[in-house]
Amino acid sequence: MTATVARLFSFLLIVLGTYLWIGYSITELTGSGDRTSAAVDISPEGGEVIYWGRGRCFTCHSVGGQGSAVRGPNHGQFGEKFPLPMGARAAERAQERSEKEGEEFTAVDYVVESLASPGAYVVKGYKNEMAVVYAPPISLSLKEIKAVTAYLMSLGGDLDMEAIDTAPGEMTQQFYAKISAAAAAGGGDPGEGAIVYEDNCLDCHSLNGEGGEIGPDLSGISAKGLKFISESILQPVKSLTKGFETYVVFNQDGRQTIGLKTRDDASEIDITTANGDVVTLDKADIKEIKIDDTKSVMPDDLSEAMTVKDYQDILSFLMLQKPKAEE
Ligand code: HEC
Ligand code: HEC
Repeated sequence: MTATVARLFSFLLIVLGTYLWIGYSITELTGSGDRTSAAVDISPEGGEVIYWGRGRCFTCHSVGGQGSAVRGPNHGQFGEKFPLPMGARAAERAQERSEKEGEEFTAVDYVVESLASPGAYVVKGYKNEMAVVYAPPISLSLKEIKAVTAYLMSLGGDLDMEAIDTAPGEMTQQFYAKISAAAAAGGGDPGEGAIVYEDNCLDCHSLNGEGGEIGPDLSGISAKGLKFISESILQPVKSLTKGFETYVVFNQDGRQTIGLKTRDDASEIDITTANGDVVTLDKADIKEIKIDDTKSVMPDDLSEAMTVKDYQDILSFLMLQKPKAEE
């Protein structure tokens, strides 16, 4: 009799416990959709919840036999193709990255690079279509990225929370800085921003040797900060770049030319206008030349043609344009 009661009692406990656990994990899942209140647990367990939840990693990746997505590499040990789970595989890939880049990558550097710059290394046999997970629609925060990294490193690797969270190495720190910069730019999508850039800015500005030469080269522009960059777009005249002043030249016959002075020698000057035309003027023909500091050659109505999203996207794209490390 007492034995039956005890058995019944422990059965009820298990049922109750399961319900509690299910209830808890559901709240956990839905709760984590709420960006402001979700406390992120920077641990393999916290990362696992994100991986199979709002990080949406599971839509392209599986872990061993868990999940069914095949668009990206399996993160577990799986068949002949994936003899090593991600944590151990990362150490191998890090070696490969070190040899190629001539810079020492750790396993954590490799995983964080996969997330921060997905295009930097494309796993053989896959397309370069890994999501930018810190941009919309996924928009993981830096903490969430750290948690997911801990989860992946715990899959057969040496889990070193210091290298992930409290004392990351220099390379991981740089990747984290890139992720924070994108988040700071209103969570814009740098991939979309690249398209906005091509459509609106490329004719005048160059990046890494490509593009127009009317405006300043923007290759390391993130160094000037988000506020400066946004002002440059919204009110170009407010932050006129030195050396790019707007010249107004009046000829003897009253003709007026407006643009940047791009050549100045003994007898002639060149004025490059906003549409890129180079007008050569004979100094003898010039009646007056002055700088107009109320105008920029950069149009001030660019923002009108852009949606708020375009604007956030381009800001995050420009915030990723880092000065090249010493070359
Ligand atoms: C839209 C599909 C997609 C999503 C979503 C996605 N990935 Fe990927 N991922 C890929 C593809 C495709 C590759 C292989 C190409 C490459 O290396 O860039 C990849 C590669 C990787 C790699 C390198 C794997 C290896 O074997 O070296 C890691 C690590 C990774 N993803 C982590 C993640 C995490 C974590 C998430 C979620 C936060 C995620 N991915 C979300 C598609 C995706
Ligand atoms: C018609 C040519 C033209 C177009 C189009 C143009 N710019 Fe400019 N931009 C300039 C010129 C000229 C300057 C320098 C004068 C100034 O600061 O306003 C400049 C300056 C800048 C600066 C400051 C650079 C620095 O180092 O100080 C930024 C940032 C910038 N532009 C971003 C953009 C973005 C983003 C777009 C597209 C949305 C864009 N520009 C479109 C001509 C252009």
